[in-house]
Amino acid sequence: MQKLTKDNVLKIMKNYQNDPQQLIAVLLDIQAASGKNYVDQKWADLASSVLNVPLSKIYDVLTFYAMFSTTPRGEFVIEICKSTPCHFTRAEEVVKWFETAAGIKMGETTADGKISLLHTSCVGACDIGPAVKIGDHVFGSLTEEKVKTLVKNCMEGKAEELPSLCQN
Ligand code: FES
Repeated sequence: MQKLTKDNVLKIMKNYQNDPQQLIAVLLDIQAASGKNYVDQKWADLASSVLNVPLSKIYDVLTFYAMFSTTPRGEFVIEICKSTPCHFTRAEEVVKWFETAAGIKMGETTADGKISLLHTSCVGACDIGPAVKIGDHVFGSLTEEKVKTLVKNCMEGKAEELPSLCQN
C-alpha cells in the first residue's frame, strides 16, 4: 500500500467537488486510502481548510461514528458483531477463533500492521450470524475453518479474495 500524500487527499476531495456536504464520504475515502484505516490529523486539518468546515466539526464526525479512527489500525479491520442475536449464536467462540488465528486479542493490531480485531454492533446479517465485517464485506455462518481462511487472506493482503468467502 502506497503512502498517502497531500496530492492524494486533494484528489479525493476534488472527486466530491470539494463539497462540504460530502464530508463523511471524503473522510471514509481518506481513511480507506491511508493503508492503516485511520484519518491522520494532518488530513483532518487539510480537509478543514479545503472544504471550509471547522476542524471541530470534522472531529465531531470522526469521533461520533464507530467506523472512523483517528489512530492507526490494521490494514484489515475485522469487526466481530457483539449484538444480541449474534451473541446467542456462538459469538464468544468466534472471537476466540479470530484471536487464535490472528495471534492477538480483541482491540489489538498485529505487529505487521495487517489486522485489527474489534467489536461492532449489528451489521444487518443476523440471519447468518455470528457475523463479521471486513471493510465493505460481511461474512456469516462462520466456522473455525472459515475464520482461519479469512485471517490468512488478510495476513497475505489478498483483499480481492475476500468477497468469494461472503455468504450474502
Ligand atoms: S446481531 Fe449480529 S449481524 Fe445482526
